[in-house]
Parts: sequence; structure tokens; C-alpha cells
Amino acid sequence: MLEATVTVGAEPIGVISPRLYGAFAEHLGRCCYGGLWVGPDSDIPNVDGFRSDVVAALRALPTPFIRWPGGCYSEHYHWRSGIGPAATRAASLGMSCGLYTSDSHALGTHEFMRFCELIGAEPYLAGNVATGSVQEMCDWIEYVNSSTDSALTRERAANGRLAPWNVKTWGVGNESWDCGGRFDAVTYAHEYRRFARMIRDVDPRAELVAVGQEDEPLPESGLDPEWNARFLETLGPAAGLVDHLSVHKYWIHGGPETDFDESQYYALLDEADGTEGLIERTWRTIEAVAPPSHRIRIALDEWGVWHPEARDWGPGDVPRRRPPDLEQANTLRDALAVAVALEGLHRQCNVLSMANLAQVVNVLQAPILTDGPRIALTPTYHALALHRPHVGAHALPVQVEAATRIPGKRTAVSATASVATNGSSGAVTIVNRHWNAPAEVRMRLTGMPNARAGDSRLLTADAPNAVNVPGEAEQVFPRPLEVEVLGDATFRVSIPAHSMATIEFASNGR
Ligand code: AHR
Repeated sequence: MLEATVTVGAEPIGVISPRLYGAFAEHLGRCCYGGLWVGPDSDIPNVDGFRSDVVAALRALPTPFIRWPGGCYSEHYHWRSGIGPAATRAASLGMSCGLYTSDSHALGTHEFMRFCELIGAEPYLAGNVATGSVQEMCDWIEYVNSSTDSALTRERAANGRLAPWNVKTWGVGNESWDCGGRFDAVTYAHEYRRFARMIRDVDPRAELVAVGQEDEPLPESGLDPEWNARFLETLGPAAGLVDHLSVHKYWIHGGPETDFDESQYYALLDEADGTEGLIERTWRTIEAVAPPSHRIRIALDEWGVWHPEARDWGPGDVPRRRPPDLEQANTLRDALAVAVALEGLHRQCNVLSMANLAQVVNVLQAPILTDGPRIALTPTYHALALHRPHVGAHALPVQVEAATRIPGKRTAVSATASVATNGSSGAVTIVNRHWNAPAEVRMRLTGMPNARAGDSRLLTADAPNAVNVPGEAEQVFPRPLEVEVLGDATFRVSIPAHSMATIEFASNGR
């Protein structure tokens, strides 16, 4: 049994924006079609074409923010293909990540906006820079957001929506350094400036997301590790046209999706932990290069694990699925990796404006898997659900003391904590990253002397590679956790190896 002490500080770091719990839905494989959308005539129970089971699960999670329609797909997407009567929408070639599909466009702008209403999410729309035009993106924004009488707003009304949706967040390209046109940073900066300047005329309130890049690209990719600095430097005073700088982080060094060994288990958790480092480095670049008069924030608008079986590039000594359909197993290890990464996202909540886990159903690190009419809530779903009390709360500083270290020299136990903005409740989420040693964890809440333990739940399974499969009994699910009261706002829990837990507290203040 390893021992750890978690001391939760009293002074908030900042607000954990609900946007940090964002999702990502791309027209790719079985994410949008099959996973979300089955059409109103489907035998699968649905609400206006969207699977009822998936809608209910996402609503409960919660899912406060969602990016659509890509990803690389958005760089081939022309929004006019997805409006008007369904029967008149022509199918086109859907392309992303080497997957080719016939896109019926049954799921278009109106349908996606309806989906956002159903799950209670704020939409984030990704615009097309590589094969689109400034005019096309301005038109989309006018169609979606304008309340002025115009041919486009009349068309919106004729298609069933009189009032504008007022979508705030718009992406200007996606991975423009590769699938979004293979621009260099300077050329993209010139493109971005033109798009952003004209979009601001159409909707001055639009929050624009510019394409940044992970600063440690694979050497064989030939990508520019200085992209972010070069892009912002080229913009110069026009950096004020950037509200959010997008970076993507996929963990690719954890070996096989299910048949991993102990060192590969730790490698994935360590990589997940490193997500915070990317945010810190990106922030240092923004601070060094962008004019301080305009505060650019970081959009981690794709993140999560991408196992080797589900890709045809990058490290991993395992057979690859052909063609790679980006579908992969989702184990307890993946759920723990999400919890580890969220600790860092909470700590960076003052500079990180959004985070969108890739992707929402069936593809990559999906919280939900479907198989025909069947559904499974993955371990990742349950890990996110255990973070519910942190959404919109104040992040609190946490100090962990534990003698036991794991590879990567991290403490075996780690934690994150928050307090509701009105101070009436708080929560601590702890992760025991150890492969096979259970942990006894003492928690001291320095800012909540009157805290009373409330709902507390544990997520674990017999093995770190346990999965949940549609149509089969769940192996990984939350269960109640006993909390021992030690007095003086101090509590103790015992949790197994490879597990995580959230302990909620009620408080009547100091
Ligand atoms: O999420 C899958 C793909 O990963 C996205 O389309 C792209 O943006 C990224 O490379």
C-alpha cells in the first residue's frame, strides 16, 4: 500500500471554463454518420435524426461545447452542400485522414445546430481555408449569425430558422501546416489576416481560432517547430485578429491499444501528463511574440490518445488496420490518461480557453461507442463524468506528497481540486497511476474548514486494459467510495491500483 497526502489550497487559480470539457464531431468514419446521426426514418430511436441514446448520454455528461464538422474534413467542406431540403442535397466525396466516404450532407448546418440544442452544447464551427474562400466563409457566418435582411438570411428563414444562432466561435482553417493546405507559417499568416479581417466586418463579435502547431512535431513530418512564433510575428500588429491559437495534442507513444505492458502503460500516462507542457510552451511563445494589448488564449481543440492500430503513421510496433478507420479500443488506461491530462488543463485554465477531446463517438478517444442499435459508455466517458463537479468551478492549487514515484519521476498519486463559484461545494479528483499498488490517500482542504464529504465515486477495473463493449456488460464503471473523516477538514480514502476517484464536499464556508 502506498501512501500519499493531498493538500488542497484555498486561493483559486481561475475558472475552469465549461469549454475545457468540449467535444469534437468530424464527418469521419462512424463519428457523425452512424454515431450521432441516423436520420429521422431510422429504426434506431432518434430525436430529429440524432440517436436518442447518444443524445441522452452526452447531455448527462455534460457536453458544454462542440466543434464541427472537422478536422481535416472541414478543409473540403462547403457549407452550402448541407442546407435546404434533404432530398435536394447532393452527395459528395467526404475526405479526412485517408478515409473516403460518400457524404450525403443529411447532417448540415441546421441539423448540427439542432443537435447542439439537444445536448445543451455551445457550437464551434470550423471554416474552410484550403479549398474555400473568404467569401464562402463570410457567407456562412452571415447565414448563421446575421439578423439583417439579406438573401442569405431569407434563405435561412426559408430553410426553417428565422432567428440567427449567434455562433461565437469560428475556426479559420484546420492544421493548415498539413491537411489544411500545407502552408508555411508566413503564407498562412497572410491568408489568416485576410480571412479574419473580412469576417470581423460580417460579425465583429466572432471569436476566431487561428491554426497553431504542436511544437514537437515528428521529425519525419518535416513540419516547422517554430510555426507558432513565425505565424504571430508575421501577423505583427494584426495579431489582434487572433482570439485563440489552436494546438492539437495526440498521445502516440503508449504502444498497443489493449495488449500493452507495464512500461507502455506508464509511457501513455506520462505523455498525457506532458500535455500541460505544450500549453505552457505555447503560452510562453504568445507572451513573447504577440502584442500584450490583445490577450490571445490557447485552444486545445483536438486532444487525446491515438493508438497505433488506428493510424498508418507514427510510432508503434503493431499491425495497423487497413484502411485505418480511426476506431480503437478504449481502456481504463485511456480513461486514467484523460484524468491525468485534465489535472494540467485545470492548472492552465487562465491561458487555456477551450479543449475538445477527439472525437465524440466511435472515432479515436470516444466517450461513446455504438454498434448498430447498441451503445457503450467507454471508460473515458466515466472519467469525464467523474469530473462533472469541476466544470465551471474555480480550480484550486493542489500539493501532493508521496514517497512512491513511477517512471517519469512523477508521484504515483496525483490530484486536481475545485470549489464551486459560490463556495457551497467542492471536489477532489485523485488518480492512483500505479500499475499494481493500491494507495491510501489523505486529503486536507485548507480553504473549507467545515467541509462534509458527499457523493464519492471510484473508477477502476481488474486490469488497466479493461474495456466496455456495446451490447456487453460494463467492465469499467463508477462505484461508491467510502470516505473516512479524520477531522480538521481532513479525509482519507483507500483506492486500488490503476484507479481514479472523485470525492465531493459540501461546505458552509469558512
Ligand atoms: O481527429 C482526426 C484528425 O486529426 C483531424 O481530422 C485532424 O485535424 C487531425 O490530424
